Amino acid sequence: MDKNIELKKLKQEMGADKSLPLRTRETRLVFGEGNPDALIYCLGEAPGYYENQQGRPFVGQAGKLLDKLIESIGLKRKDVYISNIVRFRPPENRDPTPEEITAFQPYVDREIEIIKPRVIVTLGRFSMNKFMPGVKISQVHGNPRTIEWQGRTVIIIPMYHPAAALRAGQIMQQLKEDFKLILEVLKKAQEIKTEEEKPKQTSLF
Ligand code: URA
Repeated sequence: MDKNIELKKLKQEMGADKSLPLRTRETRLVFGEGNPDALIYCLGEAPGYYENQQGRPFVGQAGKLLDKLIESIGLKRKDVYISNIVRFRPPENRDPTPEEITAFQPYVDREIEIIKPRVIVTLGRFSMNKFMPGVKISQVHGNPRTIEWQGRTVIIIPMYHPAAALRAGQIMQQLKEDFKLILEVLKKAQEIKTEEEKPKQTSLF
C-alpha cells in the first residue's frame, strides 16, 4: 500500500482511539509529518503549546531550532520525517509518564514500520530510552548505535532535545556537533542496506 495512505489510515485510527491518554477537550492530536520515504526519522517527546494549537510537531521555538539544525547539514525539514513518542500535549508541558509512553508505543512502532528509516535521531531522553533503555543521555549523546528493529538494521543517534539546548549554551554546542554526524551515519546505514539487499549467494556445489 502507498505510504501516504498507510499513514493517513494510522492517523485516523489514532484519532478514533478513545483509550489514548492525554486526550481532552483542550488537546489536539499531533501526528508525525514529513517525507514518507525519509531515510532520517526524528523522534521527539510530546507536543507543546504551539504544536497543540497547530496540530503539527515541532513548530514552536524548539521546532525552529530543529529546522535550523536540519538546514545546517544541507537538508530541509521536508526531507526528513518528524514525530513524537507522545501525541497529545501533557498538561503544563510536564514530562510524559511511562504509562503514557506505553499507550502511544504501538502507533509509534507502526509509523516507523511504514516509513522504514535508515537512521533514527532521538531528541531527548524519552525517545532515546525507547531504543536504548537505561542509558544516560549525557554519556551517549552523539554515539550512534546500530540495532535490529522490526527485522531491519537501523542506526540510532541519541541527541539532546532542542528545548534543552535553548536553555543551556553548552548543550546547544553539543547538539550542533552531534547533528554534523547525521550524513556520515546515513552513508554507513545505506551501506548496511546494500549488504542486506545483496542477493543471497547460492552455492553450485
Ligand atoms: N518538543 C517535542 O518534543 N515535540 C514537539 O513536537 C515540540 C516540542
